[in-house]
Amino acid sequence: MKEVAQEEQVFPPPEEFKRKAWVTDESVYDEAEDYQSFWEKRAEELVDWYQKWDQVLEKDPPYYKWFINGKLNISYNCLDRWIERGQGDKIAYLWEGEEGEAEEYTYRDLYREVNRFANVLKDRGVKKGDVVAIYLPMVPELPIAMLACARIGAPHTVVFAGFSAGSLRDRVIDAGAKHVITCDGYTRRGKMLDHKSKSDEAVDGLDVQCIVVKRGNNQVNMQEGRDFWWHELMEEAEEECEPQVMDAEDLLFLMYTSGTTGKPKGVMHTTGGYLVGVATTMKWVFDVKDDDVYWCTADIGWITGHSYIVYGPLALGVTSVMFEGTPDYPQPDRWWEIVEKYGVTILYTAPTAIRMCMKLGEQWVDKRDVSSLRLLGSVGEPINPEAWLWYHRVVGKGKCPIVDTWWMTETGMHIITPLPGITNLKPGSATRPFPGLKGEIRDAKGVVPQGQKGDLVISRPWPSMLRGLYNAHDKYVEEYWSKYGPERYFTGDGAIQDEDGYFWLLGRVGDVLNVAGHRLGTAEVESALVEHPAVAESAVVGIPHELKGQVPFAYVVLRKGYQGSDDLKKELIKHVSKVIGPTARPDDVLFVEDLPKTRSGKIMRRILKNIASGEQEIGDITTLKNPEIVDDIARKLRP
Ligand code: WTA
Repeated sequence: MKEVAQEEQVFPPPEEFKRKAWVTDESVYDEAEDYQSFWEKRAEELVDWYQKWDQVLEKDPPYYKWFINGKLNISYNCLDRWIERGQGDKIAYLWEGEEGEAEEYTYRDLYREVNRFANVLKDRGVKKGDVVAIYLPMVPELPIAMLACARIGAPHTVVFAGFSAGSLRDRVIDAGAKHVITCDGYTRRGKMLDHKSKSDEAVDGLDVQCIVVKRGNNQVNMQEGRDFWWHELMEEAEEECEPQVMDAEDLLFLMYTSGTTGKPKGVMHTTGGYLVGVATTMKWVFDVKDDDVYWCTADIGWITGHSYIVYGPLALGVTSVMFEGTPDYPQPDRWWEIVEKYGVTILYTAPTAIRMCMKLGEQWVDKRDVSSLRLLGSVGEPINPEAWLWYHRVVGKGKCPIVDTWWMTETGMHIITPLPGITNLKPGSATRPFPGLKGEIRDAKGVVPQGQKGDLVISRPWPSMLRGLYNAHDKYVEEYWSKYGPERYFTGDGAIQDEDGYFWLLGRVGDVLNVAGHRLGTAEVESALVEHPAVAESAVVGIPHELKGQVPFAYVVLRKGYQGSDDLKKELIKHVSKVIGPTARPDDVLFVEDLPKTRSGKIMRRILKNIASGEQEIGDITTLKNPEIVDDIARKLRP
């Protein structure tokens, strides 16, 4: 969060960096004020189209369409065109497995695998418009499967491998997917995880077929007629598959993310605008050049991986590192070993990981030669100035600009971000909206004065904006386009704008948490808890955490006949982890008699949050129907 002493420190772009940067002149912001023509130029410059659009933008608020009647294929843009331009032997992915296994995929290798898998999908009856669910860890088959879907026009929905069977099942059902791509197992910190059992549980009783990648070589049960090995299907597949001509507005993928209700919602991204937005930011924000080795440490199961491991880098013909493991396994210098080994020049990671590395100690970075780095990035949550300065000094050796990129699943691309050849950086601020975009800090009365807190609103459309929520029109309007009307996108984040117009992000304002950069609805955790037979009612709030930024804290009212105990607490924590996934594990559970409620029965989470976070000021309790419970709860927590 904003700290006055550090606020004065400003880091201008190093001369050396500036000299070679793509964007070096402030005038881009002014030119982009005519935002439709700005995006049109980027669409011409960075994307190959089968047919040009006849209109840049069609507004029907809150629905927006871009590049009307433009035709393209995103896998063609990511693969074929590089081969046609003589770059087939350039490396697309330097893949490294958890145990140190390494594989290289050139653009030609990737092209071949994608074409073959696209044919596999077609042979299995997948057609344009059929949603395919992908449930894989960070193995090369994951981007291959995504690109194969995109090649034949089948929207994908990637479900993070760490998610539970229940989470996968909900998404498969909501998306109406008839095909799931999964694997046998994989290791995490050396321990084999039986992934196939999880996906079996998820698809049990559904009319679904599974393609299974062999990764773990663990014993799995293959169900006749339902399960097929990836490698067996690939053996017979043809090597060429014509890309499907897609309309700019055809669905490219669904990405489920947490909102204010118990069930995640399917954010829709389409083909043309998404690609234009992602390719432009990839080039301008990461300033990528032909000889860069770029590494984004996110998981492809999240939007960051979709936009900045798969589509962005490949659409620019970049060489990327893709890593399956974790930063500190088998030893705390694993990441820096990778930077040294591959000569990584651009590193994009999350504040949680930076704080973890800080805690492990800078000696682990110093053990390795990380001098190849020239640019650093941050995403997923606000970066505290202390972590920013550490990242800058220890990892960047004081010479690498840091791009703190603010954006979300729904925006598809970076929205508030520095341009590293121009922006004077302030540690902890994501700086300014990308050219062509307009951010505002508002409350019910309008734009708030500089220096005051409010809601971050985006008041101009952009090409990679979400096109809706899958089968949930009302929810789409309600979550994003009601609070400030159908022409101002409500982000759900609080922010402050300082006297230089810089944005300082303050985290989510509503019932959504950000745990180690992963979005989680408090309602999701609550609904998992009440599924347990012992739980009558629950309220979940986010409390600050040193490493993860925020963690869930659960208040639980037990059903009659149950007694609160340490064992039950552990059981409930385990239960949430099983229902949603380990990220959702409550940090603590407090058994209470009742929850503070308004007269209309609404739980006052704000009060519970203040109590759990140890705030001095609990807040106004005069509207409660049971104000006495507040003291009871506070005493229970801190006797
Ligand atoms: C938060 C991740 C501050 C924010 C790309 C947003 C950030 C949510 C930043 C979206 C940043 C992301 N500074 N906060 N640089 N980047 N966030 O959908 O609260 O997983 O609303 O997308 O992450 O999370 P999502």
